[in-house]
Amino acid sequence: MKILLLGSGGREHALAWKIAQSSKCEKLYIAPGNAGTVNCGENVAIRADDFEALKDFALANGVDMVVVGPEDPLVKGIYDNFKEDERTKAIPVIGPSKAGAVLEGSKDFAKGFMKRHGIPTAAYGTFDGTTLDEGLKFLETLQPPYVLKADGLAAGKGVLILPTLTEAQREFREMLGGMFGNASAKVVIEEFLDGIECSVFVLTDGKSYKILPEAKDYKRIGEHDTGLNTGGMGSVSPVPFATEEWMRKVEERIIRPTVEGLAAENIDYKGFIFFGLINVKGEPMVIEYNCRMGDPETESVMLRLKSDIVDLFEGVALGDLDRREISFDERAAVSVMLVSGGYPQEYKKGYAISGLDKVAGSVVFHAGTTEKEGQVVTNGGRVIAVSSYGKDKEEALRKSFEEAQKIEFTGKYFRRDIGQDL
Ligand code: AMP
Ligand code: GLY
Repeated sequence: MKILLLGSGGREHALAWKIAQSSKCEKLYIAPGNAGTVNCGENVAIRADDFEALKDFALANGVDMVVVGPEDPLVKGIYDNFKEDERTKAIPVIGPSKAGAVLEGSKDFAKGFMKRHGIPTAAYGTFDGTTLDEGLKFLETLQPPYVLKADGLAAGKGVLILPTLTEAQREFREMLGGMFGNASAKVVIEEFLDGIECSVFVLTDGKSYKILPEAKDYKRIGEHDTGLNTGGMGSVSPVPFATEEWMRKVEERIIRPTVEGLAAENIDYKGFIFFGLINVKGEPMVIEYNCRMGDPETESVMLRLKSDIVDLFEGVALGDLDRREISFDERAAVSVMLVSGGYPQEYKKGYAISGLDKVAGSVVFHAGTTEKEGQVVTNGGRVIAVSSYGKDKEEALRKSFEEAQKIEFTGKYFRRDIGQDL
């Protein structure tokens, strides 16, 4: 198969690495890719949301399958766009339809969906400009801290957790007033759930599903989960509290009703579902859905997936996923993200990255990198993910930290406490 993978982050490099290992992959294109994905296939200078250019490219190059990394093209409807075009309707897109991507694109839709299908999640209310007063009153009925969520996509920044009612009411007004533009025209107010989070991933063909290894990510910039939120500073798989019994609850109460609920609502969903879960006193609850893999979870999870991922994608495309094999590496896998100084606030790009060739014991996934005059340079806040195997997470983390020292660029920073809370 000739495969076109969309995206340019660490997640996409990890997917490219795994796809390129498949005997079913004859040629891999990555659009637009980064300075690391060139080691797995051929980068194509097309944006992941330029559907017309992607279709032209796919047709001109005999692409047999499109795999979508990030949410943005999915929420914009790439699946439907390929399907509705006579020329490209036979090319399977691995990723949900626009209607399915709404699970991530609208928090209000996701909450309503969970309610309709009895899936455990925090109590909530959704409000807009016409119901502002009701929202202020709803806040008064809740205990602190208060959770406010912009309904739409807000680059991962749309959730506020506030310690007092006064602040919550003020921020609620600000959100409805356009703090996140149109994304916060509607605001979901939620009960606060106390527990540890865990990311669970499923690949589905709309009827059956395969559960991938779970992972935990580390979102804050500072050690011991302090400071601002980032795209993710590292990840660990497996997660110790995700025992067989806990995962059975997740499957019965959350995964199965979600896949069945999508089918019951006639939502065309052929791709990844990312369940952002929280463990509340031993019981899994859903914090959020995403319509794609996690980043940086993918940079650990791909190391633990033993099976041929292209075979699984083929099962998704043909609708016979139940007949495909999935198996896992028993070892632990971790990923440590090297980021630009200043991130997640202002930072500079274009610093030369050296030492990549010295890394031997880990897998290096590029996140924000590009090539300039033959030199790999920084091109984003999250720059490089250093992923490792180990007999346990401690051994894997030791390797990643050791190899992370060998990679140099101006302002390099990484968290040294990844996995310590587990
Ligand atoms: P989300 O974008 O919905 O994943 O929210 C971002 C982060 O906010 C989550 O990863 C949680 O850490 C936190 N969060 C969201 N909703 C809740 C909630 N109901 N209770 C506690 N924490 C939450
Ligand atoms: N690591 C969380 C996310 O990808 O949204």
